[in-house]
Amino acid sequence: MKSKAIAIAAAALLSTGLAGTAAALDGEALYTQKLCNTCHGADGNTPIMPIYPKLGGQNAAYASAQTKDIRDGKRTNGLSAAMKPMVATLTDEEIDAISKYLEGL
Ligand code: HEC
Repeated sequence: MKSKAIAIAAAALLSTGLAGTAAALDGEALYTQKLCNTCHGADGNTPIMPIYPKLGGQNAAYASAQTKDIRDGKRTNGLSAAMKPMVATLTDEEIDAISKYLEGL
């Protein structure tokens, strides 16, 4: 009986621990903290320049790959240079979290 209770407590601890990791990065908060909104708009779809892309609803895997390519200097086309310094310090995890948020808009 006692060992079963311990096992349940351990399982509960483990699952909250895992949930905690998954929720650690808040894409919505990061979108503003990392200033993406200043160019792409508060809702991801009202860019400050007509030529800047709309991001809301974009496939997360695609948006992540493009953001990392711009950060890493692999994508240099168009106006990528305007964005590059703004994403220079972002981690892969932060980019993934923001992209996931944008996909849901
Ligand atoms: C200084 C303005 C600026 C900021 C800040 C900025 N971007 Fe961009 N972003 C751009 C521009 C301009 C482009 C288009 C580049 C081009 O012409 O190829 C772009 C392109 C993108 C693309 C590719 C879209 C596509 O359809 O290929 C993604 C994804 C993106 N930005 C995400 C982000 C995220 C996430 C952030 C915040 C971490 C961010 N951007 C911050 C200006 C900015």
